[in-house]
Amino acid sequence: MELGSRLTEHLLRFAGRRPVRPALLHLRRTLPELHELLRSVLGRHVSIRVTVAPDTAPVRVDASEFELALINLALNARDAMPDGGEVRLSARNASAEESDGLPPGPAVLVSVGDDGPGISAEVVERAFEPFFTTKAAGLGSGLGLSQVHGFATQSGGLARIASTPGLGTSVSIVLPAATEDRAAGTVPALAAGAGAPREGGDAPGDVAGLHILVVEDNEDLGSVTAELLREHGARVERAPQADEALEWIEAGHRCDVVLSDVVMPGRFDGVELARRLKRRAPPVPVVLTTGFSRSATRVPGEFTVLRKPCPLDLLLRTLAAAARPDAAPDGSHDP
Ligand SMILES: Nc1ncnc2c1ncn2[C@@H]1O[C@H](COP(=O)(O)OP(=O)(O)OP(=O)(O)O)[C@@H](O)[C@H]1O
Ligand SMILES: [Mg+2]
Repeated sequence: MELGSRLTEHLLRFAGRRPVRPALLHLRRTLPELHELLRSVLGRHVSIRVTVAPDTAPVRVDASEFELALINLALNARDAMPDGGEVRLSARNASAEESDGLPPGPAVLVSVGDDGPGISAEVVERAFEPFFTTKAAGLGSGLGLSQVHGFATQSGGLARIASTPGLGTSVSIVLPAATEDRAAGTVPALAAGAGAPREGGDAPGDVAGLHILVVEDNEDLGSVTAELLREHGARVERAPQADEALEWIEAGHRCDVVLSDVVMPGRFDGVELARRLKRRAPPVPVVLTTGFSRSATRVPGEFTVLRKPCPLDLLLRTLAAAARPDAAPDGSHDP
């Protein structure tokens, strides 16, 4: 399966189809929080080192787009080091020279470096172009770096590649430093799961505190989805197939809601899993996701089906509503 590009496409749409919401981000807290997520993206053979200079200024960016940019850079680094290696993610204040091209003022430099084979000058030239890829058909869509570039520009910054053939590649994102007062009142969405106070307790769309079982056969998609839910405060278990999910629940484990892909290998699919869980006492709510319209038409009205790719907001709201069917948005939870 074309994991890299499927994941990129999924995440691009996941985070992309919604208004940009800039928020104040303290990289000293945010980058270490992303460590787990990136580790799961990189797999077993590639390690990651995160370094943030203590005096790094905050930035004002859309947290999901930022996260996605780092995932895209991590995936490229992983692909560049098939035999393993180390990815270095770092952040510090940029020098005047490094922030050349930005309006005058303090700036922050976030970079992702690898020890892969590097990129030739011709490829460096075109790397940020949408749909430019040197990967085999199905392995890359050429959208990763274009998202990185789009994110940097949209944030008032820029992205650069530096590469020495034979020694590795480093992609830098230079962002204007944020001033605290300009960002007053914003919610650091990315940090919401860990650290920042959350608004509105169990408001609709809030999965914080929910125990969610994610059933997904694609390892990359499954782990990224799980990490995104964890960042929003959920406790997440994973199962690679419907039959294993059912076994897990039949073994007496509990969860508030199951998020399951429809089409999966194994003895039965997500729809059958949802039917069996519905018959249990008490029933276990299931939200199905599918990229195949064919299979979606097989479940008319019976279950909640989300079309992949699905905006993160919608996913969170649907999961919260399924898990707490009686917690209608009647205002009783408003602060
Ligand atoms: N760290 C890297 N090391 C070597 N080459 C790289 C690196 N990052 C990007 N490239 C080159 O730049 C090209 C474009 O990268 P980009 O992330 O935009 O697309 P992709 O990785 O090919 O596909 P996608 O990200 O959509 O799965 C890659 O195909 C590769 O040739
Ligand atoms: Mg890529």
